[in-house]
Amino acid sequence: MSGEVDPRNRLNDLTGREWVYALRSVISTSYPTSGPESYAHDLRRAHPSPKPPQLLAELVRFFTRRGGHVLDPFAGVGGTLLACTLEARTAVGVDLSPAYAAIYTAVCERLALAPQTYVVGDARELASFPAVVAQSFDLILTDPPYAAMQARAKTGERKKRGQGGATPFTTSPADLGNLGYWAFLAELRRVIELALSCLRPQGHVILFTKDLQPTATHHNMLHADITATLREVAGLEFRGYRIWHDQSRNLYPFGYPFAFVANQQHQFILIFRYQP
Ligand SMILES: C[S@@+](CC[C@H](N)C(=O)[O-])C[C@H]1O[C@@H](n2cnc3c(N)ncnc32)[C@H](O)[C@@H]1O
Repeated sequence: MSGEVDPRNRLNDLTGREWVYALRSVISTSYPTSGPESYAHDLRRAHPSPKPPQLLAELVRFFTRRGGHVLDPFAGVGGTLLACTLEARTAVGVDLSPAYAAIYTAVCERLALAPQTYVVGDARELASFPAVVAQSFDLILTDPPYAAMQARAKTGERKKRGQGGATPFTTSPADLGNLGYWAFLAELRRVIELALSCLRPQGHVILFTKDLQPTATHHNMLHADITATLREVAGLEFRGYRIWHDQSRNLYPFGYPFAFVANQQHQFILIFRYQP
């Protein structure tokens, strides 16, 4: 495999070897949470689920070229936006919460990075944001709520350890993380459909997600339900997924000593291509 960039490569700036490495199905990471390599994790951790910028940077490098343009409709404290800055791409982030926007600004100041465009608003109104409409994005890279996972109090072992409080992203009824499972899927589809109107043909849509614990009535594999829901959107082609194994997740003795209850130390990275 070549150490050069193939002249036919229109997707990214990777050499053949870098391309192959980026195809591994599991990304196993253990990022520092202090010091310069943490990208101000001490500030970003005020958010219940900040994503490591280095992880997002790997995706940005594969799915865009230098100077590419990226949209994150659920931007939080800016994991995607920081990744784009690190990789010399431009980005627009949207989030309901002015508090998360302020943390992102503080992170940029701390790291002496120029901030990307950040819109405080409801992603279901993307079409009314001047910073979003009439743009041509190469990639929609986002980490939406995982249905109502954050908004529910924890049970069992976590509760016993005093880690049982609910940690909703916001208390707003517009927060997709405060919706029931099926309503969440419908609203997520709506946001992605709006975002597609400013994604270039052959651009990609990438979503992070986690599964919920199964119940008697549904498997609760949110990654499978998001995939099925978005495959119904015209022009959106499912290309597969990668797994992010987060080595920093604690192991809890869920179910012990009676029944199997999975610890989830991974997230799904769902990858779609837009072929209008
Ligand atoms: C999983 S977090 C994203 C974290 C982000 N990747 C980061 O690195 O900080 C999901 C975000 O979606 C936001 N959100 C939920 N509903 C929204 C909506 N209707 N419009 C815009 N943002 C929303 C929440 O405020 C939350 O910050």
